[in-house]
Amino acid sequence: MILVSTLDRPDDKFLPLIFAAATARDLGASHVGLVCPYLAYMRQDKRFRPGEAISSVHFAKLLSGAVDWLITVDPHLHRRHSLAEIFSVPAVAVHAAPYLAAWIRENVPAPILIGPDSESEQWVASVAADVGAPYVVLDKVRKGDRDVEVSVPNLGRNADRTPVLIDDIISTGRTMVGAIRHFGRTAHRSPVCLGVHAVFSGDAYTALRRAGAAKIVTCNTISHESNAIDMTAAIAQAVRPMFR
Ligand code: R5P
Repeated sequence: MILVSTLDRPDDKFLPLIFAAATARDLGASHVGLVCPYLAYMRQDKRFRPGEAISSVHFAKLLSGAVDWLITVDPHLHRRHSLAEIFSVPAVAVHAAPYLAAWIRENVPAPILIGPDSESEQWVASVAADVGAPYVVLDKVRKGDRDVEVSVPNLGRNADRTPVLIDDIISTGRTMVGAIRHFGRTAHRSPVCLGVHAVFSGDAYTALRRAGAAKIVTCNTISHESNAIDMTAAIAQAVRPMFR
């Protein structure tokens, strides 16, 4: 039995998911797997302030008790090497990078990729190598959920290229809005915003459009009008080995 539930806005989905998994077992399912294209709570992977919960660890523990395996897409492993560090059941991360690279190759002539923070460098560098384009990484300081400061991108002699801002999660959109505000000073073209997970909380999508994004594109891990990159085949490929 495979349950499919993306876990954006997770609190309303979590209990029904736990009940569905338990009921499947009650009714005779020998294994219950979970395909959750977006896995919530992964960004809180350390105590940023004293007394905070490390939600990624607690959520992984709860899910590990409910299902026999899990497949997700790019689960924000910025400070961990693999899902095995926090899940006690097999947990597979499907990577969107090759699909983002393919989209950029097909849709953006002469791009320069922009990563929002140093943690994203490894990821952005590999997409850039795949595209065959240069990249820069910004310095980001998050002072609060909606208060993000990013450094001015130094595009140097690449100012004629189209900036492609690339991030794993677009949530409040403040990281990308912050970066776009600086582009007028250095870039000659409006930026394209590319994200894996279209969380878009509150007014994020409108704010990003108003800030001047030429195009906003995401993967279909969370259903949204910006979805243009299909991860279905990649996820299906990851499911197959679970039945061997
Ligand atoms: C953080 O480390 C993530 O990779 C994203 O940069 C972050 O989730 C973006 O959040 P927001 O859209 O709220 O600025």
